[in-house]
Amino acid sequence: MTEKFYITTPIYYVNSKPHIGHAYTSIVADIFTRYQKLLGAETYFLTGTDEHGQKIATSARERGISPKELCDEVSQTFRDLLPEINVENNQFIRTTDPEHKKVVQEALNYVHDKGLIYKQDYSGDYCQGCERYLDGDDLNSEGLCKDHLKAPEAITESNYFFKMSAFQDQLIKHIEDNPDFITPEQYRKETLGFLKEPLQDMCVSRSKERLTWGIEIPFDTEFVTYVWFDALLNYCSALGYKGADKFEKFWPEVHHLLAKDIVKTHCVYWPTMLMALDIPLPKRFLVHGYWLTGDHKISKSIKSEEEFVPLDLKDKVGPDPLRFFLAAAMSFGRDATFGEEIFKEKYNADLANNIGNLISRSTNLVAKNFDGKLPEAVFEKREEELFAALTQYWEDLKTQITNFELNKAADQITAMGRLVNKYIDEHEPWKMLKDESQREAAGRVLRAMCESIRFIAGAAQGFMPDISAKMLESLSEEPAKDLSFFVLGKMQAGSEITKCPPLFPRL
Ligand code: MSP
Repeated sequence: MTEKFYITTPIYYVNSKPHIGHAYTSIVADIFTRYQKLLGAETYFLTGTDEHGQKIATSARERGISPKELCDEVSQTFRDLLPEINVENNQFIRTTDPEHKKVVQEALNYVHDKGLIYKQDYSGDYCQGCERYLDGDDLNSEGLCKDHLKAPEAITESNYFFKMSAFQDQLIKHIEDNPDFITPEQYRKETLGFLKEPLQDMCVSRSKERLTWGIEIPFDTEFVTYVWFDALLNYCSALGYKGADKFEKFWPEVHHLLAKDIVKTHCVYWPTMLMALDIPLPKRFLVHGYWLTGDHKISKSIKSEEEFVPLDLKDKVGPDPLRFFLAAAMSFGRDATFGEEIFKEKYNADLANNIGNLISRSTNLVAKNFDGKLPEAVFEKREEELFAALTQYWEDLKTQITNFELNKAADQITAMGRLVNKYIDEHEPWKMLKDESQREAAGRVLRAMCESIRFIAGAAQGFMPDISAKMLESLSEEPAKDLSFFVLGKMQAGSEITKCPPLFPRL
């Protein structure tokens, strides 16, 4: 039976246009999906937009348009971004999709029928940025929301509550029994930390007096659903919900990718909701850190230094170098800084001067000296060692990808390029070519260079699909479709090698 792999990104709020933070999560999900596919898994990749809630209603009112008009417009910008960053998702869900709304109402009825939803007066501190009531540990020493640095609003209203507290012990046990449920480890610890305090029940309604832009509560039409109860269910509703073929097939293999801002809603609220719904818990939560500018999290309101907009790099250097940088420059789970200089330095060192240099000098030498035909070669010990080392890097890359150690996997590509460049510098084939008696040896070296490039291009495909395809094209080779691609020394002698156009334009 083929393995299945289902990955989701958070569904993004439509109150602002996409920026590099959103692009990062979508790109990471895409990279994992591409490698899983190469490893033979049947994959499903979901992303989309989160469209209900007070923030949307407020933004729409400010612009003098209806909430739905605002959602259509902004959701489209998120959708349009995906092909521009080489992201190939299977589905783009919107919480305003009728199929999704139906599932949310069905889920509410199910939990209500089980007696797990009750009505009560409630007073609490509500943060509009978070779209939820805050607990003590969400506030800083000045009583402001830690994430939004704004004072929450004191609100009293009659509301429906989900008995989240009933599932606290079961959730703690699940996290303790499954060390890979929440990774990296620091976020597992953080979640267990939240669970040290007694869980409050979750308020799952908003009165229509305060908010109309939401999904109506089926058992009390005076209310709409709380946005997080609505939004989290997208991960299930996208697959057609309980009983649907797609749901049965992919749900058991779901991996939720998210940043650390929404750990509590994902790793606490969502599993308890699933328990109440009698749906198995997700396979894994993969939590990453923030992209920062200076020491601030990059967000819609905080512009990067000197008006440098990181996402514009997709147009300046193309999507693939940006993808590679994002994957390589953030130690997965930790925060990382994005700046123009930081990008330039890594781009030049890892891509332009490494992989770019390797391919341009190799294809150039073959084009000039061997009439553009891949030389025949009998490899020697030195090439066998080179090939063995490249194969080992690839083995390590595969292991790291399946362990979701993204930046480590990206580093293997850089290391492969360095290794082959070192091999070339040791042999200096351009010097050998000046001496007719060394022509055969030069051919062997050039052949090994081309074999290595083919291998590296296949290995890098998940990070840089377009650039890999161009590298392979100049070798008259096809992209890797499965693991059988990854052999060295088996290219066809005499096949056409053309000079590769510059892949990494100078910055
Ligand atoms: N709508 C909710 C999620 C609901 S999921 C059921 C939401 N939306 S959001 O638009 O604020 O997106 C948050 C997500 O965007 C983060 O979890 C992360 O994936 C991504 N990022 C936004 N800014 C980011 C950074 N500065 N750095 C890294 N990722 C960032 O929360």
